[in-house]
This record gives sequence, structure tokens and C-alpha cells, in this order.
Amino acid sequence: MLVSATEMLNKARDGHYAVGQFNINNLEWTKAILQTAQEMNSPVILGVSAGAGKYMTGYKTVSAMVQSMIEDLKITVPVALHLDHGTYEDAQACIAAGFSSIMFDGSHYAIEENIAKTTELVALAHSKGISIEAEVGSIGGEEDGVIGAGEIADPAECKKIADLGIDFLAAGIGNIHGKYPANWKGLDFEALDKIHQATNGIPLVLHGGTGIPADMIKKAISLGVSKINVNTECQLAFAEATRKYVEAGKDLEGKGFDPRKLLAPGVEAIKATVKEKMELFGSVNKA
Ligand code: 13P
Repeated sequence: MLVSATEMLNKARDGHYAVGQFNINNLEWTKAILQTAQEMNSPVILGVSAGAGKYMTGYKTVSAMVQSMIEDLKITVPVALHLDHGTYEDAQACIAAGFSSIMFDGSHYAIEENIAKTTELVALAHSKGISIEAEVGSIGGEEDGVIGAGEIADPAECKKIADLGIDFLAAGIGNIHGKYPANWKGLDFEALDKIHQATNGIPLVLHGGTGIPADMIKKAISLGVSKINVNTECQLAFAEATRKYVEAGKDLEGKGFDPRKLLAPGVEAIKATVKEKMELFGSVNKA
């Protein structure tokens, strides 16, 4: 059964660790992440961007797949199915499709409009026991064709959004989606600390988890980050393992072309990445 992400993230905040949100793209991805979470006895959040949802044919398919997989694989650790960077319409569609958590990304609106839309979605999500994440200060990098500038969120705006009753808050602190450029300045811990002080202990979300050095991850957790999103790193690991398999000519040996064999190294690479992140985030044995 799916659970909302509220309880697992409040526990993470109180226990000074973070729960990973790993984005899914297909059945193999979902299976690899769920099995690793179970093996690690860790809570987990499966993230679905609008683009990935569309790729998997729609939110209803995703919701049905994840819920059935939890049952068939006998997954007993807490699992939340979460919309990543949703529009107002995506958020409503995911609530209707049976997701247990949503993110409304109103960071590109003026703060008043972000507040108005977030307020409405908080009421709708909470009436159904669904958790809701909101965002202030757009996260840089490119995701689904949308490029953010990597803003540093204003603590006063963060407070305004946190006070609307959302369950966790994504705030830009110089983090970006995808690979970090060589001249990246790192996370702005001063900004993170101010945001943490201003938002009354609400669990904070760090997007763009790919490629952030371990010491920065640990420091971010110590300053109130309780949820860390990872997407690109699993994609890179999957692609590298698949490339090696094909380059070694293994798809030409015996029945090596069978998708169950062809995709197996990539799946193992996703599992290894997820395991490593769960260990770094401190969520192992916190189910
Ligand atoms: P990365 O792709 O950089 O890991 O970011 C993931 C993310 O923040 C999803 O919202």
C-alpha cells in the first residue's frame, strides 16, 4: 500500500537523516528501486515527472503499476508515489489517479499566485490524505525541457509558502538538475540555514541530488534537509552499464538480445546507485 510522504519525512527530520526520492521511467526502474528499498529496509519516494508520466502512457498506468508491484513483490517498507515538479493540472490528475504525494511547482509564478494555487492544492491533497510539496526559488538546470536559473530562495517567501500548511518545501540554494558544471559554486549553506530558521522546522527538500559531494549532502541534512531527489545519476548508471553490455557484444551471444538479459546490467547499476544514496542519506533500516 502507498503511504503519504509526511510521516516518513517528519521522522527523517527528527532523526537527522534524509529519504531519497528516486525518479522512475519504466517498469525496470520501479522494480529496481522498490527491491533496493526493501533490501535496505529503507523508506522510499518514487518520483514521477510529467514527462516520465506521459512516457509511461499516463498517471493512471503509473499508479496501477506501482501499487500492483508493491503487492506482487511483497514490499513492506513505506513507499510514497510522488508527482515531481507538477503543474496545477498535473497535481489534480495525480490526486485523481491515486498518487500518495504531489509536488506543485509554482516557483515560476509571482509569489501571490504561487500562494493562491498552493493554498487550493493543500486543501485538496489533505482532504484525501495526500502529502504536498511546494517550491520557492526555481531549481536550475534542465528538466523536461524547462530550464531554471538556479535561484537562491528568499527566506521570507519560503515562510509564506511553508505557512500554507504544505508538508515539505523545496527551496533553491544554488542546486541544479542534471550534472553540475565544473565552475559550480556549491550549495549556499548560509541561505539554507536562513530558510531553515524561517520555516519552523518543516522538512526541506534538496533537488538536483546528482553529483553533490557527500560532505555537502551531510551538511545539508544537518541544516534541515529531509528529502533528496535523485534522477540523472540512475540514468547515467543505467546507460553506462547497458553500453558496456552492448560494446562487449553480449547481445550477440546466445539469447543475449532478450530484453530480460539486455536490461539486467542497467537494472543492477540502478540498484547499486540507490543503495549508495540510501547509505549516504542515512535512511537504511529506518523503514
Ligand atoms: P537530478 O537529476 O540532478 O538528480 O535531480 C533530480 C531532481 O531534483 C528531481 O526533481
